[in-house]
Amino acid sequence: MIPEIEKLLNDQVKYEAKASAQYLSMASWADTHGYNGIADFFYKQSEEERVHMTKLVKFINERSGNAVIPAIDQPRDDFKSLMELFETFLESEEFVTAKINNVIYECLQFKDYNVHNFMQWYVAEQLEEEAIARTLLDKLKIIGDDKSGHYLFDRDINTFQAPEAVR
Ligand code: FEO
Repeated sequence: MIPEIEKLLNDQVKYEAKASAQYLSMASWADTHGYNGIADFFYKQSEEERVHMTKLVKFINERSGNAVIPAIDQPRDDFKSLMELFETFLESEEFVTAKINNVIYECLQFKDYNVHNFMQWYVAEQLEEEAIARTLLDKLKIIGDDKSGHYLFDRDINTFQAPEAVR
């Protein structure tokens, strides 16, 4: 494996692990604030990010590279509102997307078409996750400070889907 690409993939392992820890923290926050639906949503997101991470670990090792399992800083757990919680979600996804785009850019520079091909799965995943994050934020903007709106949002969150165009 091209060392520069191996390094970038290992960095990506770290970003996915970081997202997984962040969403677990957000799930826990939701749990302790009475939002069980939102908690379930983020527990699920956290597991998905762990899958993203493990897929990278296996791929690096299969390509005779060395996957490095990173130390993770304590994630953020101080959210003032649901809006802030979901803004953090979108920011995290946008950050990961930017990093994936960078890996793809470097794959083309190094003519590493195998990794380029592997990363397409991540591009599709990101498109969907960013769309979900934006959809949920848009709903929260409509709801504003309305407490019964928050109640319904929490009740229904696990039935929302990304727009059809990105599924
Ligand atoms: Fe795997 Fe949503 O970043």
